[in-house]
Amino acid sequence: MRSGVRALAVALPACAALLAIATWATHARIEREAHRHALALLASVLPPDAYDNDPLADRTAVTQPDAFGTREPANVLRGRLGGKPSAVVVDAVAQGYAGPIRLVVGVRYDGGVAGVRIVEHAETPGLGDAFATDGGAWLARFRDRGADARWAVKKDDGDFDQFAGATITPRAIVAAVRKAREYCTANRDALFAAPEK
Ligand SMILES: Cc1cc2nc3c(=O)[nH]c(=O)nc-3n(C[C@H](O)[C@H](O)[C@H](O)COP(=O)(O)O)c2cc1C
Repeated sequence: MRSGVRALAVALPACAALLAIATWATHARIEREAHRHALALLASVLPPDAYDNDPLADRTAVTQPDAFGTREPANVLRGRLGGKPSAVVVDAVAQGYAGPIRLVVGVRYDGGVAGVRIVEHAETPGLGDAFATDGGAWLARFRDRGADARWAVKKDDGDFDQFAGATITPRAIVAAVRKAREYCTANRDALFAAPEK
């Protein structure tokens, strides 16, 4: 019996140590995976030659429901080139046909859109999700659009194609990108001066 207790006394700390190591390793793997995902997302809305800092480590957040479509603080990543502001990457939410559409928008300091990516949506497959099934062609149409673009779908005399039988979704996305771009351009110096969050 005594030897059983002794064995337990040795085994329990060893198990606890193993568990701690396994938890740490899992945590590290999850963090690495999240970082890899964030880098891929960043690369999809901002070309690598647009910044030479680490925008993932140069972030702030702003609560601007009118600009970003959410009452939650919107993350703002800041890109700098040679120490000067070059672009921001912001979260925005469009109200689609089937609910919120979560976007990430890259906006260059000169006011041009660098890229748009949709990270979450519930639009109807085969109807409102055309942006997700065309290899990125529709979203690519936002690139380099600035103040002089006609920020509406073609049906509303704008520059952006609507989808066959589905105008609500592209209207919502165009409006969300327009508002995010306008806010980021009008407030660019404040965004770059804001404290890290
Ligand atoms: C079941 C069902 C699902 C629909 N899903 C979408 C959708 O995801 N996105 C969208 O823009 N329209 C969707 N529509 C069509 C819209 O109701 C609307 O007719 C269409 O967007 C055209 O809008 P417009 O009249 O402003 O041009 C759906 C319609 C039905 C019946």
